[in-house]
Amino acid sequence: MGRRGLLTAALLLCFLAVCSGRELAIKQNPSTTIYNSTLAQILVEYAAAIYTADLTELFTWTCARCGDLIKGFEMIEIIVDVENCLQAYVGFASDINAVIVVFRGTQENSIQNWIEDLLWKQLDLDYPGMPEAMVHRGFYAAYHNTTLRDGVVSGIQKTREAYGDIPIMITGHSMGGAMASFCALDLVVNYGLDGVKLMTFGQPRIGNAAFASYFKTYLPQAIRVTHAHDIVPHLPPYFAFFPQKTYHHFPREVWVHNVGLGTLVYSIEKICDDSGEDPTCCRSVIGNSVRDHIYYLGVSMHAEDWSSCRIVMDYSKLRYQMDLNGNLVLSKQPALSNDRGFSAQ
Ligand SMILES: *[C@@H]1O[C@H](CO)[C@@H](O)[C@H](O)[C@H]1NC(C)=O
Ligand SMILES: *[C@@H]1O[C@H](CO)[C@@H](O)[C@H](O)[C@H]1NC(C)=O
Repeated sequence: MGRRGLLTAALLLCFLAVCSGRELAIKQNPSTTIYNSTLAQILVEYAAAIYTADLTELFTWTCARCGDLIKGFEMIEIIVDVENCLQAYVGFASDINAVIVVFRGTQENSIQNWIEDLLWKQLDLDYPGMPEAMVHRGFYAAYHNTTLRDGVVSGIQKTREAYGDIPIMITGHSMGGAMASFCALDLVVNYGLDGVKLMTFGQPRIGNAAFASYFKTYLPQAIRVTHAHDIVPHLPPYFAFFPQKTYHHFPREVWVHNVGLGTLVYSIEKICDDSGEDPTCCRSVIGNSVRDHIYYLGVSMHAEDWSSCRIVMDYSKLRYQMDLNGNLVLSKQPALSNDRGFSAQ
């Protein structure tokens, strides 16, 4: 066996060790308790499903992206803020026994424009009740100042009434990850809910260092998955020489990237430190890829229709409520609660 063969064999061994290490639930190994890659794979599928263009397919869970890995899911509510072109859904996942809350990323005409825009986002809002904490007003308002907040909270309440105080898993990709983060914090701080878990994919920074430190206190288990050279987690910029004044990620990042040697390429999930800005994670490479932003854990996060905010649905088939601004809430009663007389809804 030549040198190269030995090296390959050694790598293969490490690889196997990493893989099997992940399956074993060794209590001493912090990585299995911090980051659960099986759960990540499930949540990324939910985060991808919201990019389905046809709301009827999404609501009835018949979309191409829905049936694949995620059986046993019951949609409870889809909230569409037509005015602001935003969307979220809430449902019950029986296989992992949790409420699932998903926020959709940007729907603007061009993801490139949205990314360029991120370069100039200011820290322009004091986060209420948290001295020194500043956040980006646009991301904050997209969750707090639209129909999403009420819709999501009522969807969670409805699901928990039917299925008990099960964990609430909040996720989203890109700007959807930013909204998911504000939602998770809101549920803990303002609604006092327990069992709130957050995992986002390719989200931008949303606040400053003081905000990140509050965030860590309230949501110590939060996970931000980043991918290879994805540009979005690098934005708005963080300046290492000015760490208190600029945007600052909350922990904990998990950086998924490929390591390759010849034909042997495999994916590593690096659990980063708890600073939020681990210099050995995605910050160790240049964030220059839009393509890496669109693929997470092997799942395409590409919107079926980037071109508009138009609503595709069969109005005759779905039950919905519309407010004066044309915003929609599609909702179902949880299957378990049919006998409980929720007909007033
Ligand atoms: C990881 O998550 C999956 C799905 O929720 C669960 O079945 C499994 O027990 C978890 N593993 C660990 C080590 O917590
Ligand atoms: C929310 O909307 C209200 C009314 O339009 C506005 O006055 C307020 O500044 C907005 N809040 C944020 C944080 O943007």
